[in-house]
Amino acid sequence: MNGYRIALIPGDGIGVEVMQSAREVLGAVARTFDLRFDFTEFPWSCQHYVDTGRMMPEDGIGQLRSFDAILLGAVGYPTVPDHVSLWGLLIPIRREFQQYACVRPVKLLPGVQSPLALPKGTDIDYLVVRENNEGEYSTVGGRSYAGTPHEVVTQVSLFTRRGTERIIRYAFELARARGKQRVTSATKSNGIIHSMPFWDEVFADVAAGYPDIESEQMHVDALAAKFVLTPQCFGVVVGSNLFGDILTDLSAATVGSIGIGASANLNPEREFPSCFEPVHGSAPDIVGQGIANPLGQVWSAALMLEHLGEPEAARAVEDAMQRTLEAGIKTGDLGGSANTAEVTAALVRELSSVA
Ligand code: NAI
Ligand code: MG
Repeated sequence: MNGYRIALIPGDGIGVEVMQSAREVLGAVARTFDLRFDFTEFPWSCQHYVDTGRMMPEDGIGQLRSFDAILLGAVGYPTVPDHVSLWGLLIPIRREFQQYACVRPVKLLPGVQSPLALPKGTDIDYLVVRENNEGEYSTVGGRSYAGTPHEVVTQVSLFTRRGTERIIRYAFELARARGKQRVTSATKSNGIIHSMPFWDEVFADVAAGYPDIESEQMHVDALAAKFVLTPQCFGVVVGSNLFGDILTDLSAATVGSIGIGASANLNPEREFPSCFEPVHGSAPDIVGQGIANPLGQVWSAALMLEHLGEPEAARAVEDAMQRTLEAGIKTGDLGGSANTAEVTAALVRELSSVA
């Protein structure tokens, strides 16, 4: 029996609600596939920050290091500034564990209505690879003469050759592994004249090593429009930290709801645990109502199973999601009337009936 030690960080708001679903789904997976999951739950969150002054303890990263994977819900609390929750928990996990590849699948599942007016039968199925360790999300810069007419603010983006090359290479490798024909690079080298021409150069260099895969680059603004107009044309899309962040909220919306988007923060070399989390946040507007869509969290758990080397179990979870949606059992954000618990129960039923 394969066993895995999983760190669970439910976080805040609906993070706690959808994590409960993921636990139940993983319980069903364990029974069906004869696996063992040892869960250790960590209360790190904005609530924890309010109680202790820190999002996680000083040795938090050390506490997570020995786990096989981390499954995270969402963090965010109306009274705690968002940069505190991001820089106090999510970014340290991504950076300390060198989770430089953030992979977000964009797939229109059967039974889900895209808000786009696409020809019937249009297939949306691509992957966005977001650089997760550097780029625009940097601490370099500063603010002087605050509050005066002379106020000056700088925010410096950091693009290293190593970081740029490895994320672009990862995108091409992923395209190969998934049978995707094309890698599209998100750029903005017309307006951002140092980092983006550099990004383009590295992209061209890496692409030359993959003659079997088509490569193209597109300015991120035009790319955003294409995500809406011709989403069926993409295979793998690679972008910087900021571009990838913005593009994936858009792409999640095009396949039904942000409540369904999943993401894997991967350390491809497996020196450290990788972290799996839904794209959505803590949704304070619907917390406590029991109506949150658990599919983004459950899909993230499926990505975790794949990374752990349990592809059959991962596929079974995705199949269970599809069958549940096809049966019309879906939450309000997808136009259904089921609540979180009903969707979860349907997923567990589907998984229990896998031979
Ligand atoms: P959000 O994703 O929490 O919510 C945006 C909208 O989508 C809301 O109307 C919400 O009700 C809806 N929604 C989100 N997830 C849903 C689900 N599973 N089922 C049904 N509806 C869902 O983003 P927002 O409002 O910008 O941020 C709220 C808090 O979450 C903030 O504190 C923010 O910093 C934090 N946040 C945390 C993230 C993380 O932990 N990785 C990511 C994004 C935001
Ligand atoms: Mg985002």
